[in-house]
Amino acid sequence: MIDGVTRRGFLGAGGGMAALSLATAASPAAAWLQDSGAPRAIGQPMPRGAELPATPPRPRRPDSVGFAIVGLGGYALNQMMPRFAEAQRAHVAAIVSGNPDKLRRVGDAYGVPADARYSYETFARIASDDRVDAIYIVLPSALHADWTERAFEAGKHVLCEKPMALSSAECERMIAASRRADRKLMIAYRSHFEPHNVQAMELMAQGAVGDIRLVRTEQSYRMGPTSPSENWRVNRALAGGGPLEDLGIYGLQAALYLTREMPESISAATFRPANDPRFAEIFAHVSSQWRFPSGAVAQLATSYDSAGANFVQVQGTTGALFMDPATNYSGQRMWLQAGGRREFNPGDPGVQFAGQLDHFTDAIRDGTAIRTPGEMGLRDLRLIEAIYASAEQGRTVRLNPDGTMRA
Ligand SMILES: NC(=O)c1ccc[n+]([C@@H]2O[C@H](COP(=O)([O-])OP(=O)(O)OC[C@H]3O[C@@H](n4cnc5c(N)ncnc54)[C@H](OP(=O)(O)O)[C@@H]3O)[C@@H](O)[C@H]2O)c1
Repeated sequence: MIDGVTRRGFLGAGGGMAALSLATAASPAAAWLQDSGAPRAIGQPMPRGAELPATPPRPRRPDSVGFAIVGLGGYALNQMMPRFAEAQRAHVAAIVSGNPDKLRRVGDAYGVPADARYSYETFARIASDDRVDAIYIVLPSALHADWTERAFEAGKHVLCEKPMALSSAECERMIAASRRADRKLMIAYRSHFEPHNVQAMELMAQGAVGDIRLVRTEQSYRMGPTSPSENWRVNRALAGGGPLEDLGIYGLQAALYLTREMPESISAATFRPANDPRFAEIFAHVSSQWRFPSGAVAQLATSYDSAGANFVQVQGTTGALFMDPATNYSGQRMWLQAGGRREFNPGDPGVQFAGQLDHFTDAIRDGTAIRTPGEMGLRDLRLIEAIYASAEQGRTVRLNPDGTMRA
């Protein structure tokens, strides 16, 4: 599993190279998903396989931070909400959903009082709910910016899922809203709290492979039959270009936190098979090559239409680091090849979920610095924009040190 996506059935794929302009309007999707106009929050059925706790968890400490969870989908219900019980001072204080039945069932299971269960329409009332200190946005990506702004307007801190948003302009709006409200903004980049990835960062900082020459990453799986009207992940208005924002962003992040450099140029290609409803609106495959000021190169691939992969490799002048799988929920493996093979087992990857909650609550309660702030999400959206611009224009794009494109 990468990001909770399953590798399901196979579809035939044909067609050629296509650079689908991200500027083009999305085609209309079915009413249950997206009725018309700008993307908006609409309740969905209970995700398949959702497991609710038999007994409601309780806050561990009196200074525990109360979170309102916005969007009770697969990731919220199956991954994050169960992990609050492992966090030191975070608890689920409120829930926000467009599905009244889910509000009732999830609210009962988590012990959320009836007056702390909000719909998207009643959300603004959360401003006067003192049980809620922070809002956790777990909505489809196109809704992150608006709901983050609403959360700041309500005077709350915000933990926002990845990708931060679908454009750098949205990210800038979110950061400005955080500053206006004088509230914290963190992007839920869980790998920064996962022991293997943390140790990989340390190893690279110590020069464990010598000078880095090449980074290769791939995050892919083959998506089963679906269409933009039934699945927001293949709906351009809700998901942007597709696999890069969803999965490839883990490889993009790793290339940055392992090299500790920003690329100075990017060249990229996108692929979209013809006559495939999965890829009527989004790309099937995005690959890019980055050049860093040190001379190192990164090659990143991500796909919704190739056999499952989730690896990161770093080749240096004296050795190589391998992570496979690199950024899953569990099962990480990592080894260094440098005059012999050395395996690393720095800890249970499962701690990444509560780890990011603890990190954010420390920032809220103790004023500590946030490792994955809005500015990091903005940087990454700038690189994603550069990747799409390069593919669309068929040229190498040169970048400023902050990731913006040079004229
Ligand atoms: N960090 C990670 O490892 C990780 C893993 C998976 C996902 N994510 C991120 O988490 C977010 C949610 O992903 P997910 O996998 O949980 O998605 P999901 O299972 O499809 O759930 C999304 C939820 O958002 C709400 N929603 C509101 N408006 C919607 C609309 N127009 N279309 C669809 N859903 C709408 C619904 O909740 P209600 O019915 O309660 O209103 C829905 O259940 C995304 O940003 C994704 O990138 C992160």
